[in-house]
Amino acid sequence: MKTLLLGADIPGIMEAAKTIRNGGLVAFPTETVYGLGADAKNETAVNRIYAVKGRPADNPLILHIHDLAQFHAYADAPEYFELLAEAFWPGPLTVVVPKKSTTPGWGTAGLPTIAIRMPSNDASRLLAKHAQTAIYAPSANLSGKPSPTSARHVLQDLDGKIEIVLDGGHCIYGLESTVLDISENTPRILRPGFITAEMIYERIGILPESGHQQSKQPKSPGVKYKHYAPNAELTVVNGSPASAAAFINEHASKTEKRIGVLATDQTVEKYDLNKYSVLNIGDRLKPELIGAGLYAALRKFDELGVEIIYAEGIIGTGIGAAVMNRMAKAAGGRVVNL
Ligand code: TXA
Ligand code: MG
Repeated sequence: MKTLLLGADIPGIMEAAKTIRNGGLVAFPTETVYGLGADAKNETAVNRIYAVKGRPADNPLILHIHDLAQFHAYADAPEYFELLAEAFWPGPLTVVVPKKSTTPGWGTAGLPTIAIRMPSNDASRLLAKHAQTAIYAPSANLSGKPSPTSARHVLQDLDGKIEIVLDGGHCIYGLESTVLDISENTPRILRPGFITAEMIYERIGILPESGHQQSKQPKSPGVKYKHYAPNAELTVVNGSPASAAAFINEHASKTEKRIGVLATDQTVEKYDLNKYSVLNIGDRLKPELIGAGLYAALRKFDELGVEIIYAEGIIGTGIGAAVMNRMAKAAGGRVVNL
C-alpha cells in the first residue's frame, strides 16, 4: 500500500475524512502526539489498527470526539464529568467512564468502561467533524516504540501500512494525554500528563489518587506493556546537574559501546561531544519543554545508532511527573537515584 502524506489543511482533512468514512486508517496530529484513527463504528477498520501497530488485543483505545453529543452516545457521565469537560475540553485530558450498553466491544477490549477525549488541535477536531463519526485512535507508532510527535516519526513506523498521514508539524505537548479514571468512586490518574492532579483538584474539589491499585488487575491495560522504548538500553540518572553529569561521564568512559547522552542546558558543556552523541533537550527547570522534545530525542538516538543512552532526570512534580513517568518506562525501570 502507498501511504499518502497530505498537509493538515482543509483539502487534506477532507480527503482524510473520506478515507475514514470508507474504512481506511489515517494518522493525524493532535496537541499531544499523532494518533492513528479509524471510524469507531467500523469493526474491521478498528481491528486493523491493532494489526498495523502490533498492539495486544487486551489494550483498549481512546475514542476521539468533537462534541459532547458524541460523548453521550457512547458513555454515561458521572456527576462531576461536566466540570471536567468544561475546564479541560477540548484538551489533553482523557476520561475513563462507564460505557453505554449499546457501545460495541471493539476498541474497548471488552471492558465495561471506555476512554474518551476531545482533542484541541484543529486538524483532529475537523477530521472527526467531517468524517461525521467518533474516531478510535491510539498513538500512531508501532507498539512499544516512542509515540510520534511529527509526521516523519509516523512514517518511520507505519509507511506502507496505512492510507494517509496528515502532516500538521510538531505536536505542541509531545506527551500523551492524562488518563483520568472517573468510573468508580475515587477519581484516579492512570497515566500522568499535562493536566495534573492539582489542576483537577482545583476544578472538582477532589484530589485524584495516582497510579494503579496494587490489589487489582491493572486498570489501564496499556501500562503493563513495554513502552516508549528506543532500541538502545536507556538509563535515567536522577540527581543535581553536577552529580548526574559526573556519574554519566564516569560510566560512559568504561565501555566501548556507542553512547548517547540526553543532556540539559545546565550540563551540556560537561560532556565530550567527540566521544558521545549528546542531545541537549533544554532547560531542566522547564518540564513542558523537556516533555515536548523527549520522544523526538529518543527516536534521534535510534537514528544515530547508539547502543546505550544515559538521560538526566528532572524534578518529578507537576508536569515533571508525566516526563519522569515516560522516561522511567522507556528505561524499563533502569533509574539511578544519586
Ligand atoms: O494523547 C493521547 O492520549 C494520544 C492521542 C493520539 O490522543 N493517544 C494515546 O493512545 O496515547 P494510546 O492508545 O497510545 O494510549 C491509551 C491509553 C492506554 O494506556 C490504554 O490502556 C488506556 O489509555 N485506556 C484506554 N481505554 C481504557 C479503559 N477503558 N480503561 C483504562 N485505561 C484505558
Ligand atoms: Mg500509545
